[in-house]
Amino acid sequence: MNKINAIILAAGKGARMNSTKPKVLQALSDKTLLQHVLIQAQQLCSQVFVVYGFGGEQVQQAINDDSIKWVQQVEQLGTGHAVVQAMPQINNDSISLILYGDVPLIEQSTLKKLIAQAEKQGVALLSVILDNPTGYGRILRKNGKIQAIIEQKDANIEQIAISEVNTGIMAVNSGLLKVYLDKLDTNNAQGELYLTDIIAMAVADGKIIASVIADNEFEVAGVNDKVQLAELERVFQKNQATKFMQNGLTLKDPLRFDCRGTLSFGQDCEIDVNVLIKGDVSLGDNTLIASNCILKNAKIGNNVAILPNSIIEDAIIGDGASIGPFARIRPDSNIGEDAKIGNFVEVKKSTIGKGSKVSHLSYIGDTTMGRAVNIGAGVITCNYDGVNKHQTIIGDGVFVGSDSQLIAPVTLGKNATIGAGSTITKDSPEGRLTLSRSKQISLKNWNKPIKKN
Ligand code: UD1
Ligand code: CA
Repeated sequence: MNKINAIILAAGKGARMNSTKPKVLQALSDKTLLQHVLIQAQQLCSQVFVVYGFGGEQVQQAINDDSIKWVQQVEQLGTGHAVVQAMPQINNDSISLILYGDVPLIEQSTLKKLIAQAEKQGVALLSVILDNPTGYGRILRKNGKIQAIIEQKDANIEQIAISEVNTGIMAVNSGLLKVYLDKLDTNNAQGELYLTDIIAMAVADGKIIASVIADNEFEVAGVNDKVQLAELERVFQKNQATKFMQNGLTLKDPLRFDCRGTLSFGQDCEIDVNVLIKGDVSLGDNTLIASNCILKNAKIGNNVAILPNSIIEDAIIGDGASIGPFARIRPDSNIGEDAKIGNFVEVKKSTIGKGSKVSHLSYIGDTTMGRAVNIGAGVITCNYDGVNKHQTIIGDGVFVGSDSQLIAPVTLGKNATIGAGSTITKDSPEGRLTLSRSKQISLKNWNKPIKKN
């Protein structure tokens, strides 16, 4: 097999995006458009060239990959001219695979077919049949054999009616490609050097153009504006959701599920509507993610219930735990087995021991909590003195009464009980009741104020 070079065209400005970012840096799921193409190209090709123009520095910085060969196209004089820029660095006895930085969902299997055909026949072209071919180059065939590509702007009425169009993606023997690129001219409606003209040249040379027709429109769809970007995002999400469901994940509505990262899961997991997955998330067996949750870089065990409207980031959730509704688990938190984090509870950089419960309206930060602890409603660990963060240590079996403040650094000994409404500034001993409140009094000579006019 010959060496394969990818030449990714990415010099267009993408004015219709109405953005300060170059088009190929717009995001689809968790990657830029160009990254999607690069991933495919890098799996198949020994060298990857990216032809850049507008915003080149920004693109190179964002992609930050030393293995890529960046080629500048100073003026955008057409797709043929763009490919020419890479050719001096490419050996004749190789295959050049032409891809586009704004066509992100092209698949391996399709490209492999195209390359295999080019190995045999020298030139292989990827086309697609469209209900509405407007704007695209049309494929001209004679007796079924590809003869040429005619751009919309150069086409006659008969040609405009053809529904088979050029995707722009092709694989060509590099030596042949060089010969034909040298012969391109600008005798066309747009005054450009059309890459597409190499097809008629090869035919004139007696070559038979190998034809691959894309199975899926989405694979060859380009992104020119935010509407098309959103459409392809949906396609990407739907395809991904389909794979998850085929592997056993229950998605209540695959159209209301987004994964911008990687998700792994055990058996019998269920995800309700409007859940967003980011980064690396794993679910054990039999775990439920209720609606409106966001999970980012989370390792979630077996038999866990993440109840509605909860947000979990960079955290571990143990088997059998219950989180939410409306809970926020922030980075570096480890929620133990069978623990419960209830509504309006925020946990940050804390370990919660097995079976402990923080059920309502609390902030737990920089805390190490033992097992079987019960934290009453409205308890706050005061971890910040305005300058530094401090630790709170809570022993096994502790009970903290509602609306207490634990002023860190502070330690509550095993099985300690804290009376409700206490402000705890000193360590509290094991097994004892500790409280800090003023005694309750009722004033005898007090009268309710009277409203003044
Ligand atoms: C091109 C094809 C057309 C095909 C269509 C598919 C040619 C002459 N026409 O038309 O047959 O149906 O794509 O979308 O090839 N680019 C550069 N440098 C340039 C010109 C273009 O890098 O000088 C890049 C653009 O950034 C873009 C891609 O090449 O990603 C296609 O260019 P564009 O001008 O959009 O080509 P079309 O007119 O759409
Ligand atoms: Ca285009």
